[in-house]
Amino acid sequence: MSECVNCTIENHIAMIVLNRPKALNALNEEVLTVLYKKMEDLDKNESVKVVIITGSGEKAFVAGADVAAMQSMNSEEARAFSQLGQKTMDKVANMRPFVIGAINGYALGGGCELAMACDMRVASEKARFGIPEVTLGVIPGFGGTQRLPRLVGMGIAKELLATGRQVKAEEAMQIGLVNKVVGPTELLSYCLELAEQMVKNSTCAISYGKQAMNAGIEINLENAMKMETGFFGAVFANPDQKEGMTAFLEKRKPDFQ
Ligand code: CAA
Repeated sequence: MSECVNCTIENHIAMIVLNRPKALNALNEEVLTVLYKKMEDLDKNESVKVVIITGSGEKAFVAGADVAAMQSMNSEEARAFSQLGQKTMDKVANMRPFVIGAINGYALGGGCELAMACDMRVASEKARFGIPEVTLGVIPGFGGTQRLPRLVGMGIAKELLATGRQVKAEEAMQIGLVNKVVGPTELLSYCLELAEQMVKNSTCAISYGKQAMNAGIEINLENAMKMETGFFGAVFANPDQKEGMTAFLEKRKPDFQ
């Protein structure tokens, strides 16, 4: 029986595939719980340096939280669902390995929120982004009201919230929602190439650097600078620092842990 979230690991790179193609990979409680667990396992697996997340099927990355599952929820159940979704997105955003979102199709509502939780996003020309929750009488509940304005600015975020309109890949790139747009057949090979490039660098340094960015953007600059100094000191306690700098001085390629 195929799982709702598949995971394979090769050459320090994990590939996570959301696998509910008949429901366009919509996120229900089961998918969120399994995704959280898989991300937690990858976070603990020191051999994993980069994670790529994508959707199965031709059409969708993830078409949102599962509308059928939410339709009969009361406020209390909706709050619990939002907490589970946010916990899962936060795990994706804050885990040790770097996370690339390979956005192969619709990334709407909870799907856009999952894409935004990734450290960066590569979109297929077929990808469509949006937060159409207001068309269903609700708001984004997996971090979308917070991560979208941080990525694209408040004005565009509010426009996308209030119109619920879909944004094509090119526009998503113009507004800073994605890093790169590639042809649909090149999406995974491009993401794998990026991941292979990252694997050659110090995983510890990438992880500390992204933690400094994630946490620093939430606090004032003075305190964020102090925090950066803390992380800068911490990387010098990791063997990768001696290896990286020694390799540079010896004019050879570094062999990081
Ligand atoms: N939840 C549950 N099922 C979904 C779904 C979703 N978010 N999105 C698609 N599906 C299901 C459809 O019900 C349909 O199932 P059946 O074949 O059993 O009828 C199947 O996936 C295929 O979908 P469509 O027939 O609708 O495919 P389409 O090509 O005509 O349209 C689409 C594609 C534009 C993505 C359309 O499916 C759509 O608009 N989906 C909903 C998008 C949405 O509103 N997402 C936000 C959800 S709310 C949310 O995410 C809240 C939050 O932040 C927590």
